Amino acid sequence: MSPVSARIHEAVVCTRDADGRLRSAPMGVRWQPGGPGGALQAVLMPFRPSTTLDNLLRERVAVLNLLVDARVFAGCVTGRRDWPSRAVAGDGHGPWPARLDCALRHVALRVAAVEDDPQRPRLRLDPVEDVTHAPFDGMNRAQAAVIEGAVLVSRLHLLPVERIAEEMAALQVAIDRSAGPEEREAWSWLLEAVEARRRRPVARPAAVTARGATA
Ligand SMILES: Cc1cc2nc3c(=O)[nH]c(=O)nc-3n(C[C@H](O)[C@H](O)[C@H](O)COP(=O)(O)O)c2cc1C
Repeated sequence: MSPVSARIHEAVVCTRDADGRLRSAPMGVRWQPGGPGGALQAVLMPFRPSTTLDNLLRERVAVLNLLVDARVFAGCVTGRRDWPSRAVAGDGHGPWPARLDCALRHVALRVAAVEDDPQRPRLRLDPVEDVTHAPFDGMNRAQAAVIEGAVLVSRLHLLPVERIAEEMAALQVAIDRSAGPEEREAWSWLLEAVEARRRRPVARPAAVTARGATA
């Protein structure tokens, strides 16, 4: 990890809903200095409205999951948010949200600062536990394509469905050439979501721009 990173890593953020249920949401994370002694902090930028943001502001803790199972990214944006999870120790002062079983690494985070914004607040979080569970096997084109597809599907309420379908078609080659069973399943959920939106178009709010839901 470089000390100052403009790079965004796509992760899955776990938080606790008000009733204690686990909430998993894909989010981009940047790492920047600013913590105690110049330590790196995680920077999250959820768009309002966001249940994950509400949970973060209420409970002040989250667990960041770094993972390569593309089904979790595709699943969370297609109504499949419940993934096997297990407890973390955090800093011992819980309650902490669980981490996902498939995480290669998890980082337990405490909110250190919130820069509020009507559209996209910026949260800085201090890592209090950082555990690696499994090796990273290397980059895979189909996983990257699923991430892109999942971002597009998360914008189905903002962008014309035909534009999203065209961008998905351009990603298909990476799926055809490099996917394993997990990426194929994830991709099928994304295609289904696009088809469902084609059959059930919704009126888009006039004020929303094409920037959509993520950085
Ligand atoms: C790879 C990926 C990255 C994403 N990054 C963000 C992000 O940084 N901020 C955000 O608000 N939404 C992001 N999204 C969209 C959210 O995951 C999605 O809107 C989700 O439903 C938000 O859940 P919430 O209401 O609990 O925040 C991303 C989606 C994907 C697939």
